[in-house]
Amino acid sequence: MQDFNTIIQNLQRKFTDLFQLPPDLYQAPGRINLIGEHTDYNDGFVLPAAIDKAIYLAILKNDLEKLRLFSYNMDEFFEIDIHELKKVEVQWANYLIGVTAQFQKKGLNPGGIDCVFGGNIPPGAGLSSSAALECGFAAGINDQFDFGIEKTELIRMAQKAEHEYAGVLCGIMDQFASTFGKEGYVMKLDCRSLDYEYFPLTNQEVDIVLCDTRVEHSLASSEYNIRRSECDKGVKTIQSVFPDVKSLRDADPAMLDKVKTRMKTTIYDRCHYIIHENIRVEKACKALLKNDFSTFGKLMYETHAGLSKEYMVSCIELDTLVDIAKKSPDISGARMMGGGFGGCTINLVKKGKAEKFISLVNEEYKKTIGSTIQIYRVKTSDGAGKLN
Ligand code: GLA
Repeated sequence: MQDFNTIIQNLQRKFTDLFQLPPDLYQAPGRINLIGEHTDYNDGFVLPAAIDKAIYLAILKNDLEKLRLFSYNMDEFFEIDIHELKKVEVQWANYLIGVTAQFQKKGLNPGGIDCVFGGNIPPGAGLSSSAALECGFAAGINDQFDFGIEKTELIRMAQKAEHEYAGVLCGIMDQFASTFGKEGYVMKLDCRSLDYEYFPLTNQEVDIVLCDTRVEHSLASSEYNIRRSECDKGVKTIQSVFPDVKSLRDADPAMLDKVKTRMKTTIYDRCHYIIHENIRVEKACKALLKNDFSTFGKLMYETHAGLSKEYMVSCIELDTLVDIAKKSPDISGARMMGGGFGGCTINLVKKGKAEKFISLVNEEYKKTIGSTIQIYRVKTSDGAGKLN
């Protein structure tokens, strides 16, 4: 994985080679999420943080009315007329086209833009490299053209780009964390009001270790959209008895029990998971304030069980990693992270025990699954913005 200085030098050099001018530089980080999974699109609560792995973008406006884009990691160039933006075959370009289209929808005209980007967020790991790309580009355009759009609005535009150009009906967590991240903190976000509160994660007692299965099951985006519609179905049934419930965030366990016989077991399970996950986020925040990682960790294990058995977005590789962590006295808590069907587990490892855990998990995983995992040790970081 390349370090910051090398990445920046490479991007600057490539930009000058391609476009003959020195660019401005922007960055947007990936994210982790401690607890609160699949709650964001249910108007609920999440507890993410931005991390020290990011997408870096060299950007400069041009007056050619063209988007001229280069992905350093893919070593690929793509160009499109700014007045003819549409979904294209080149997947990575869609994120940037999608973001530009959101500015146009607001009646703003981001003339032409040149951009070379790259970074060190492992793709497909569930660390939201796509949200980082969208947020970094949105911040870049906003700055280049002095549009003065508020950060919260940029986040919504980045989310829309993902809906419309990548086809994933994601919630707002990833874009929010990438934009509002703060070094040393996780944030509790209310995904309905977008009110947020920072909680210190001083790392005095735990380290964060991610275990990447490096599998991405093809179900990921289709099943994600299916979960959303299952939650909507659940809300409709609950509403038939409790009309004030607008989303699963408004429902409590007693309400759900009251309508249990009116819904299919699958829908009940999905709703049960979400309603209890929102409760767990509240409990986890209280535990965090007391530095009580033992309680926090137990809640993470409960989340994993719910994601695996009720929400059904886990897979054998993720379940295996969590089982290994559970047997280790050095781990406070572990669970699958992000949308699911592959990607990473997040592990809260007791201080000083990371190396021991890493060799255990490598060995045990190899024995059970037969392939290797990738390990990332991550720290919290600041959100998207211009680099000096
Ligand atoms: C993906 C989505 C997020 C969120 C998570 C699950 O990362 O982009 O909006 O729904 O899955 O918590």
